[in-house]
Amino acid sequence: MRPFLIAGNWKMHMNAAETRAYFETFKGLVSAAPNGVSMLLCPTFTSLTAAAEASAAITGMHIGAQNLHFEDKGAFTGEITAEMIKETGADHVIIGHSERRQYYNETDETVNKKTKKALSAGLTPVVCVGEFLEERKKGIHFEVVKKQMVAGYEGISADDAKKTVLAYEPVWAIGTGETASPEQAQEMHAFIRAEFTALYGADVATKIPLLYGGSMNAANADELLSQEDVDGGLIGGASLKPDSFQQIVGFAGEIFAKNG
Ligand code: PGA
Repeated sequence: MRPFLIAGNWKMHMNAAETRAYFETFKGLVSAAPNGVSMLLCPTFTSLTAAAEASAAITGMHIGAQNLHFEDKGAFTGEITAEMIKETGADHVIIGHSERRQYYNETDETVNKKTKKALSAGLTPVVCVGEFLEERKKGIHFEVVKKQMVAGYEGISADDAKKTVLAYEPVWAIGTGETASPEQAQEMHAFIRAEFTALYGADVATKIPLLYGGSMNAANADELLSQEDVDGGLIGGASLKPDSFQQIVGFAGEIFAKNG
């Protein structure tokens, strides 16, 4: 069985002081990730250093940013480089989240450039894909996700692809309380795995962790994570509370212990 990655996307929440307080509480709940599970929390840029420092004593906890720029430096007001992110102690970065695609003009092309930059800097990219509700209603969700994947991974070698994480986040399920059913998640994840097999072969495809995101919480995580091709979650709202994040991590540990 593939190991799990349980990731939290804090979006524009949690300043540095709140971040330190979160990890104080979390440390009391989880001092080390369960066997077969890695944990990742992605705060805002200004909380990255606090998060990296405050989580250093928690075994299996990684810190990630929510975006980066694909250039190494220059006149890009308001942007931040891969090296700056690494300097904070973070080792992952979310790329192409649907909120960035919707509100900040993120395109498949910039996702591709950012993914390459993260890889060359030694950051693990968490590449996000997912369809809008209208696209699912029209029955074109597989096509949409395939296009985002293929364009996002263009020119990325098999060796590098193995170092990435992909998150499937149906836009209609993000922050809405509406979750994809376990069957819908598994169906799309199996499709994505098959597309990775077509692109890179089965050896690589089986190694890429596929996370589900969209209203995952302590009440539905067990069922979602039990699906064969769901290797973890990218969790927004429910990751802001140490106890609900801890519960989801716990479910992943139990599933791994049962099947691993
Ligand atoms: P949500 O967000 O869990 O609050 O739906 C998930 C995400 O956007 O990554």
